[in-house]
Amino acid sequence: MKIRKAVFPVAGLGTRVLPATKAMPKEMLTIVDRPLIQYVVDEAKEAGIEHFVFVTGRNKSVIEDHFDRMYELDATLSARGKTAEQEVLARDQPAAGATSFTRQQAPLGLGHAVWCARDIVGDEPFAVVLPDELVLNRPGCLKQMIEAAEKLGGNSNLIAVEEVPGHLTHNYGICGVGARQGRTFEINGMVEKPKQGTAPSNFSITGRYILQPQIFRILETQERGAGNEIQLTDAMIGLARTQKFYGVEFEGERHDCGSKAGFLRANIAFGMARADLRDGLREEMKRYLEK
Ligand code: UTP
Repeated sequence: MKIRKAVFPVAGLGTRVLPATKAMPKEMLTIVDRPLIQYVVDEAKEAGIEHFVFVTGRNKSVIEDHFDRMYELDATLSARGKTAEQEVLARDQPAAGATSFTRQQAPLGLGHAVWCARDIVGDEPFAVVLPDELVLNRPGCLKQMIEAAEKLGGNSNLIAVEEVPGHLTHNYGICGVGARQGRTFEINGMVEKPKQGTAPSNFSITGRYILQPQIFRILETQERGAGNEIQLTDAMIGLARTQKFYGVEFEGERHDCGSKAGFLRANIAFGMARADLRDGLREEMKRYLEK
């Protein structure tokens, strides 16, 4: 099962981190010195993804600009001899023709955003990557999932899952756990935000998926669910009636950068993972905590 395309839904409003997201897309918020969207595109590149599909919305055009070449900046950096910076920009840029941008005219939910990519994805399995969730690990989360998908073969769907404390399961999409092989298990049920005490397990659905194209047919008629939004989890429950779903317990620390506390924690974690910043950052934090 070759996965060539990844869909990045970036049309949400980011209300949890307002007012930062009033005029700027949430996906352009910066962790250390790179926008969120750059981290997930790099993760997808590392996993062998060849085409990057962005589902954008109003006020999101800066994301398209971010992946374009900036001639004036390039010329200025060149004139000033800043070759290291030029190299970083060149490395971060996807190849010509390797990006597509489509619009979700209204933020009707994650399921609807994914459905907006149907014509660009076509009739092949694809990945969905949520840019506001970062996983700090090498190999990245998507690479781990694609490796798991290759082992499973066939028409499998995979979801990255993470264990959450029992008293918090009602905040998440939760999967039931079937037969297990290493870090991969068969999903034998999914439920969006189960009532307290009714969750089938502690495994929550996170922001990385590998889906078969039949999901688009289900999304076409998917009714609104939790939060009055068209939910991807509801469509996956529909697809699970005819196709297999697997949970992948990925290695690495997940950061929910769409919440204020998660965003701050991610900046510290990614900063501490950088050899050029670690020592200085540690000293600063120590000094601050001793105040
Ligand atoms: P979230 O629910 O975390 O994003 O969706 P949100 O709605 O922007 O944020 P809050 O909850 O209001 O703070 C996860 C991803 O799905 C995209 C978002 O842009 C984000 O990257 N999304 C969500 C869409 O593209 N369209 C939607 O209708 C909803």
